[in-house]
Amino acid sequence: MSDVNPLVAELRDLESRALAEADAASDAATLEQVRIRYLGRKDGLISLVLRKLGGLDPSQRPAVGAEANRVKTALQEALEAREAALDAGAGAGAAVDLTLPARREWIGGRHPVTRVMDEIFSIFRDLGFTRARGPEAETEWYNFEALNTPLDHPAADEQDTMYLLGGGLLRSHTSPVQVRIMEKHEPPIRILAPGWVFRRDTYDATHTPAFLQVEGLVVDEGISFVDFKATLAEFARRLWGPGTSVRFRPSFFPFTEPSAEVDVKRVITLPDGSTQETDWLEIMGAGMVDPNVLEAAGIDPERYTGFAFGMGPGRIALLKYGVTDLRTFFENDVRFLRQFAGL
Ligand code: DAH
Repeated sequence: MSDVNPLVAELRDLESRALAEADAASDAATLEQVRIRYLGRKDGLISLVLRKLGGLDPSQRPAVGAEANRVKTALQEALEAREAALDAGAGAGAAVDLTLPARREWIGGRHPVTRVMDEIFSIFRDLGFTRARGPEAETEWYNFEALNTPLDHPAADEQDTMYLLGGGLLRSHTSPVQVRIMEKHEPPIRILAPGWVFRRDTYDATHTPAFLQVEGLVVDEGISFVDFKATLAEFARRLWGPGTSVRFRPSFFPFTEPSAEVDVKRVITLPDGSTQETDWLEIMGAGMVDPNVLEAAGIDPERYTGFAFGMGPGRIALLKYGVTDLRTFFENDVRFLRQFAGL
């Protein structure tokens, strides 16, 4: 078109070529080459056009100059936009770097003491036991006297038991649940009673002033020492594995006669595949229910007999998982708890 100055036409032609090249540039280096080729101060194609401005009729110079500025600005903007687009693309590429190790997703898990509780319950459920509960705040009668424990017994001392203002106490064991259940239910009785118990112990690696216990009680006609031993040995082997040895060591509790402490000797497999026997580990107190206890709870000791046992799942969890400090079960440090996730 004759009314378009040839230099203006040339600038527009450069513009469209430059835009196309900028668009096609697939990396920052190529884009920079496009910028230098068109916008370079000395040898840039636009500068070369402007150098011809001197040969123009002065009346035509402003229009060509203005067009040159417009093309430069448009081109600069296009280059910047393209650069930004390339940067964003590079960022997205880094986010899916397949060579990076996956970020670990932590899943929750049951607390080690809860796991032991669940295992104890599932074993005894299979053996026909049901769950029972009793109050944490008790009377001296249920916590001691009905359990054949006179109040001058050392366990009833204020040094050991937490007494409540105005009478009553925090139960020092779950055994009072035995009495409460026998008062309300006729034999046959087969219960397992979990719960918190409280003692005036200092908080250290092996003692906490509050801890969990699980109490068991079986009362029926003809329950013998054989039932007692067979049931608890079966429980111990199911909990610790079939290779476990079980020992009933004579002991004393006011509420059982005879009384025993149940020990297990475990066979553990070492990382190299070899096996090793542990020392004897005490897992519970137990015995045949003392006739005085049956009587105190209103059950005829001439007709019925029974056995009882009590254990601490926290202590069992220590033995089972090789934990050396009971306090780690209470502090809930995730670095400790994570070791049990997925076990
Ligand atoms: N109550 C006892 C304690 O806290 C544990 C216990 C021992 C419970 C013998 C029993 C039992 O039922 O028969 O140390």
